[in-house]
Amino acid sequence: MGSGDIMTPLLSAEEAAHSRALMERIAAEVHAAGGWLSFERFMALALYAPGLGYYSAGSVKLGAGGDFVTAPEVSGLFSRCIAAQCAELLAPGGEILELGAGTGRMAEVVLRELAARGQLPARYAILEVSADLADRQRRRIATLPAALAERVVWLERLPEHPFDGVILANEVLDALPCRRFAIERAEILELGVAIEDARLIEQSAPADAALTAEWTRLSAQLPAPLADGYLSEICLRVAPWLAGIAECLARGAVLLFDYGLPRAHYYHPQRLTGTLRCHFKHRVHDDPYVNIGVQDITAWVDFTRVAEAAEACALEVAGFATQAAFLLGTGIERLIGETDDLVEHARRAGEARRLLLPGEMGEAFKVMALTRGFDRPLGGFALQDLRSSL
Ligand SMILES: C[S@@+](CC[C@H](N)C(=O)[O-])C[C@H]1O[C@@H](n2cnc3c(N)ncnc32)[C@H](O)[C@@H]1O
Repeated sequence: MGSGDIMTPLLSAEEAAHSRALMERIAAEVHAAGGWLSFERFMALALYAPGLGYYSAGSVKLGAGGDFVTAPEVSGLFSRCIAAQCAELLAPGGEILELGAGTGRMAEVVLRELAARGQLPARYAILEVSADLADRQRRRIATLPAALAERVVWLERLPEHPFDGVILANEVLDALPCRRFAIERAEILELGVAIEDARLIEQSAPADAALTAEWTRLSAQLPAPLADGYLSEICLRVAPWLAGIAECLARGAVLLFDYGLPRAHYYHPQRLTGTLRCHFKHRVHDDPYVNIGVQDITAWVDFTRVAEAAEACALEVAGFATQAAFLLGTGIERLIGETDDLVEHARRAGEARRLLLPGEMGEAFKVMALTRGFDRPLGGFALQDLRSSL
């Protein structure tokens, strides 16, 4: 996501009312639970509470008038490169499934690019948890030529038939609700929320069995114990999320794009306050307890966890690289140079800089390919192989 400065603007009256309504919904659940809710549950409600959560309700979210910008919104070049990778992976009759398709921009561009290459998928399915974003996707897809638009379907759940093709997810893993923890006297505590003076406050509690077991396993892998006061995130939803996807994938690949790190860097002793970030009107900050329901809450992805989860469901980690290396490997330079129009060339070069430069999206964002029944090398990972860092 694109970021801005730390100051957050004030809420409009409508946003304030929406935020209050969600806050009341969360407070009721805190009371019903005996006074404390895990951060994971708080994040699930803040983002997905029916009718009120950030992704369930009607705020603009993505794009200039929203809160953040993702790579498909920055430039069509991103999705054209993804289409190039899909073209290598798709067998005749193969399908694409996009999880969390945002405004539908990636679907639109991938379909146009694959049509131009004469390699359209039999179907382009979208699984979207936000009814509001699904509406936006439908409106955008309706502007495509009929031969493309008619291939797009929206699913309520993962396909039940054996899926042959490519499953895409850009910035979806970072939106899965995560646990937050703090180290105190060399013990792990779970962070959550309580109510004080009618306001949400952060409060720690003893970690439950699932978090304790995971922490014991994970801390044994770290080179040194984490200091008291260290705070970070663990996303226990990655494994069940991926297991569901793996269950339906008969042949093909899952391509995951997100900002994240291998575990040793994710839990680096100097990353003292974790990876949680909130996005509100193009400002980035780290307070999830303000602007509830009208700001996005995300956490970076521990890609070692994704690789472990993949292995557990018999998917092969076929590639892991920075976004920059993936885009260069799938031909972004050729796409930039494919025009004689100098203005268009300059525009593409400017967009590519945002996608590629290390200080922009090029390095923090990673791409991981998980395959089943496909053993040819993938162009997106020809230039860089970071798998040994996992
Ligand atoms: C940060 S947005 C990214 C949107 C889009 N992929 C893009 O790059 O512009 C996260 C998206 O994931 C969706 N989402 C969140 N959890 C999901 C889940 N479990 N399954 C499918 N989509 C999900 C959200 O509704 C939203 O569309």
